[in-house]
Amino acid sequence: AEVDLQAVHDTLVSVAFEAGRMILAANPSTGSTNTKLNAVDIVTETDKAVERMVSTRLRAAFPTFAFVGEETYQAGVTRVTDAPTFIVDPIDGTTNFVHGFPNACVSLGLAVDRAPAVGVVYNPFQDLLFTGIKGKGSYMQRNASLEEGRGRGEKVRLPLSSAGGTRPPPALGNLSSALVSIEWGSQRDGDNFELKARTFRKLAASKENGGGMIGGMRSLGSAALNLCACAAGQLDMYWEGGCYAWDVAAGWCILNEAGGRMVSGNPGGWETELDSRVYLAVRGASSGQEELVKEFWDVIGD
Ligand code: IPD
Repeated sequence: AEVDLQAVHDTLVSVAFEAGRMILAANPSTGSTNTKLNAVDIVTETDKAVERMVSTRLRAAFPTFAFVGEETYQAGVTRVTDAPTFIVDPIDGTTNFVHGFPNACVSLGLAVDRAPAVGVVYNPFQDLLFTGIKGKGSYMQRNASLEEGRGRGEKVRLPLSSAGGTRPPPALGNLSSALVSIEWGSQRDGDNFELKARTFRKLAASKENGGGMIGGMRSLGSAALNLCACAAGQLDMYWEGGCYAWDVAAGWCILNEAGGRMVSGNPGGWETELDSRVYLAVRGASSGQEELVKEFWDVIGD
């Protein structure tokens, strides 16, 4: 049966605002966290409470859909299948959240046939909402939880640089003029750490030093907000090696609908999967997208 993506979107927005209220009401501290993989892979009671609320509401509204959530994921057991699947990160940017650094969000995605079909990303600290529906574009809204006429912002079509969708976004140049986000994530050993360290170095170093002399590197601390910033046209690219489907599912839909593209973070992978774990996002542009991706891969490849 056809999935009513608009109905899913409307439910996800309402669930996102409820999650936002829970996140704002919480009072986490760096001492109140538990750890998962290691000392920097943290989870709070709020992450768990928000995921419980989200899964309860989504299972009630769409009882036949599957559900994948960060806090209930079991390695080797939880899978994204062809069925409509909610892919949820209750708090993306947990480290920012416990520090009160206002760059955290709830990330709610729906995948159909393993492809992102709806994405809702909501940062309650800034009351900033990003949404996307496959085939229908993506939007940003300020003061999103306020009532209409009481300061709620207009929904602005993404990318922002396209003047509400009436102008094509500017062309992309080469790496030395690009602003790129890249994250360390929580894994700090083994092959994954080597991959990240090498990628950071190669991007940053001057050409004489064997690098790509990238224009600027940022770490926002939330995969979903990195993807939304690419969708908005505020960042040119985002690379991460080691995050999961729930970090990217919602933002990926928002990026696609803004003309952006998700490819593999490993050189050569133009097609990539939700659970590929190594991602490269590039913003929408009138030209230069493929050239910039190739230059990026050239620089990080050995
Ligand atoms: C993390 C954030 C971070 C990224 C990590 C993710 P979490 O998500 O998105 O930016 O670097 O890989 O795990 O743990 O805060 O939900």
